[in-house]
Amino acid sequence: MGAHAEKTVLSGGNIIDVRTGNVMTGNSILVEDGRIVALGGEDSLGLDGTETVIDMKGAYVLPGLSDSHVHLTSRHDDHGYRSLAISLPRATISGVANAETTLKAGFTTVRNVGAAGYSDVALRDAIMDGEIPGPRVIPAGVALGITGGHCDMNLLPKEYDATSEGVADGPWAVRQKVRENFKYGAEVIKYCGTGGVLSKGTKIGAQQFTAEEMAAIVDEAHALGMKVAVHAHGTKGIRTAIEAGVDSVEHASLIDDESIALARKQGTYLSMDVYVSDFILSEGEEAGILPESLDKEREVGRAQRESFKRAVEAGAKMAFGTDAGVYQHGLNGRQFAYMVEWGMTPLQAIQAATINNADLFGMADIIGAIEVGKEADIIAVGGNPLDDVRELEDVDFVMADGVVHSNELGE
Ligand code: ARG
Repeated sequence: MGAHAEKTVLSGGNIIDVRTGNVMTGNSILVEDGRIVALGGEDSLGLDGTETVIDMKGAYVLPGLSDSHVHLTSRHDDHGYRSLAISLPRATISGVANAETTLKAGFTTVRNVGAAGYSDVALRDAIMDGEIPGPRVIPAGVALGITGGHCDMNLLPKEYDATSEGVADGPWAVRQKVRENFKYGAEVIKYCGTGGVLSKGTKIGAQQFTAEEMAAIVDEAHALGMKVAVHAHGTKGIRTAIEAGVDSVEHASLIDDESIALARKQGTYLSMDVYVSDFILSEGEEAGILPESLDKEREVGRAQRESFKRAVEAGAKMAFGTDAGVYQHGLNGRQFAYMVEWGMTPLQAIQAATINNADLFGMADIIGAIEVGKEADIIAVGGNPLDDVRELEDVDFVMADGVVHSNELGE
């Protein structure tokens, strides 16, 4: 940030209030030193002519989007055994490119839910230092998991002794992993509470970690001021995790009505990646995804969308999380249309990616809405996304922290 006040006016756009869906037509936003300092008709902003003015007339202006579930250091075409050939430095370099792609797609904040070697912490720091462009990254560091579980590495036989860094068994062992994550810069804890689709040999329906271990993870993380995100597809693992007090359930594919009700009661967010199944089932084989994983996806993909619909109808708190990295980074916005197809209004889908995620991240005071005092994370699209949410698949203008990263308005 410069020594003198950098002032920018985003002039005359149609500003969407994501809390209500009201559109303030022809309004302007004054940004100073990375923050929104005034909002309204241009005459009311007290401009002195030193501002950089960006014309937003006709465009629809929204707060920067966020994604509660990405893997910046993963690439969509390195699945299955191909992943073994990717070194940690190589993955980190991909992360640099993917961070920029994600930002330019309009996603100004992401939770990175698991990365080897704390590469996501390094990415966060390089972005914060202004060395590389990227979204705000909330890193999970290494994901916790049981021996042989979804968060372990199960591709090689015993003689290779390959174990993922986050593997721990037992309440004290998991507490130690949480502490280690905190020590090395994680801001959120991710653990695997059931088997998964893309891991070898795990069962979607099988719970991973006992209730006691889950309670230990949550207790330790919360004591250190970190939220907890659980990977869970199976009904029992989801239930046990919600009872243990997690802050969000990722995937939540086979969640039953009782757990939806419990999540609603406790305020647990559901972060359901309802687009990714289409990628896995159409391009997955070519991308190296194992046949057994394709079989598991066939079991879980549609069921997850039906669960999503039930959760929306029941009024559960919904996050916006995509699992980008499994598929192409930058296509995060494709999920909006799926959320609308499966029961949300466009406004609800937009709220998931703005105010809801901001609340889940514990950042509601600084991101998630265009309001005076909030960070200047602002995007714009040509048409009204409240009429056609697919507008958000191609974001035309991105400002993050008061800096313009792309502007294709009027092109
Ligand atoms: N990373 C997740 C897993 O391996 C991807 C699940 C994708 N499928 C889905 N229907 N959401 O389990």
